[in-house]
Amino acid sequence: MQLFVDSANVDEIRHAAQLGIIAGVTTNPSLLAKEDPTQPVERIIATIQEIVGGHISVEVVSTETDGMIREAEEILSWLPEATIKIPMIPAGLAAVRQLSRRDIPTNVTLVFSPTQALAAANAGASYVSVFLGRLDDIGHDGIDVLRDVAEIWDMHHMEAEIIAASVRHPMHIVEAAKAGAHIATVPYKVLMQSLTHPLTDAGLQAFLRDAAKRQQRSVTV
Ligand code: E4P
Repeated sequence: MQLFVDSANVDEIRHAAQLGIIAGVTTNPSLLAKEDPTQPVERIIATIQEIVGGHISVEVVSTETDGMIREAEEILSWLPEATIKIPMIPAGLAAVRQLSRRDIPTNVTLVFSPTQALAAANAGASYVSVFLGRLDDIGHDGIDVLRDVAEIWDMHHMEAEIIAASVRHPMHIVEAAKAGAHIATVPYKVLMQSLTHPLTDAGLQAFLRDAAKRQQRSVTV
């Protein structure tokens, strides 16, 4: 399962990219709203593209099919490699259909059920983003929904890639991988949490202590 970072913060993305663990970036309007308002969105996205060079999802904010297509064309005019992120609403499906006929990759976002995932894939989505944390927040099990989507995908050899989105903690990454997601898009903080283990830290401290002791002994012998 590949990892994307779910962020529009250039410093976070640069660090995650340096570690070599991410294959792409997903952004959304809320993530972009947290960044420097004096920077145009296209400049932030261009910087992210320079850093990562892989998948970048950029979301439209129109709720009408024509508006979404216009926005997609504008995004592609400054970033031809962009994947256009489209909300899972009927107007969005019509936009996905049009864009897929032009071989423009799309990521259908805000997917909360297997039927939505199926509709998005049938409309021609390249990616479907199943939101885990937001389902958990309302007392549903996001991983159960993801597991159902992955089962349908397997059975019917669906082509769209399943992205586990709205990831809130490292166990979501593990469970998403076990459930059959192709990609997990993970906030920077959770990505960093997923790399640490107290036994790694304790083990490293012991190795460093023993290496220093030996060095001291070799000096005194
Ligand atoms: C997906 O691409 C979205 O950007 C994201 O995962 C939303 O997650 P949230 O529920 O933490 O806002």
